[in-house]
Amino acid sequence: MDRNALKSLSYGLYIVSSYKGDKLNGQIVNTAFQTTSRPPTIAVSINKDNLTHECIVASKVFSVSVLSEETGMKTIGTFGFKCGRDIDKFKEFEYRIGITKAPIVLTTALAFIEAEVIHRVDLGTHSLFVGNAVAAEVVGQGTPLTYDYYHRTMGGKTPEKAATFSGSDAKTEGPHGPSSSYVCTVCGYVYNPATGDPRRNITPGVAFADLPQDWTCPVCGAGKENFEKQ
Ligand SMILES: Cc1cc2nc3c(=O)[nH]c(=O)nc-3n(C[C@H](O)[C@H](O)[C@H](O)COP(=O)(O)O)c2cc1C
Repeated sequence: MDRNALKSLSYGLYIVSSYKGDKLNGQIVNTAFQTTSRPPTIAVSINKDNLTHECIVASKVFSVSVLSEETGMKTIGTFGFKCGRDIDKFKEFEYRIGITKAPIVLTTALAFIEAEVIHRVDLGTHSLFVGNAVAAEVVGQGTPLTYDYYHRTMGGKTPEKAATFSGSDAKTEGPHGPSSSYVCTVCGYVYNPATGDPRRNITPGVAFADLPQDWTCPVCGAGKENFEKQ
């Protein structure tokens, strides 16, 4: 089987949120899609190790926030590379509590959908939750963020827990060769001096050692001390 064929599937990027007791949590997914029209239903594939999985199993509800291309790496890093068991993900983001009581991330969101779980399909590592859409709203204007844009334009990576992790995504080598590139041990992002970090005004040619001390990984927000020479 040529697994490269799977990479040609297209996706968007979303934040799926839910709650358990007083704990609010959410995570990035690319695996969210509408499953039927009448009634409107929506499905998400969630890794069983994730706190979001625990929350959806407990509350039987979830929300899906549709992200825009304006979404920053801080959002991706917080919701896509960190676990809500270690941090309060909602602390620094705009959100509201929906009619299902699930939190809904509003920061750089274009729209959201709230759903009540009607089916859970056990897929081994992941559960596919299918929900009845009980509320939905357009909350912003812009271009929806796609998985392709995230990888190609934002230089983003896909962590192991994602449903579409391929194994080849974590590390890449830049034209300066292995000696000058540094890899983030948290998310797999590679700092390549040949490209710098243009989104934060680090021009091409700046060596890793010369990055400001407070520079952080553009994908997950980890500090310089979390980087290793490739
Ligand atoms: C681009 C991207 C796509 C992802 N897609 C999924 C997905 O479809 N399903 C999933 O379970 N995890 C996915 N993840 C990983 C989760 O967002 C990540 O494991 C998160 O830290 C889980 O947080 P939690 O433990 O607080 O729930 C994705 C992450 C990224 C960055």
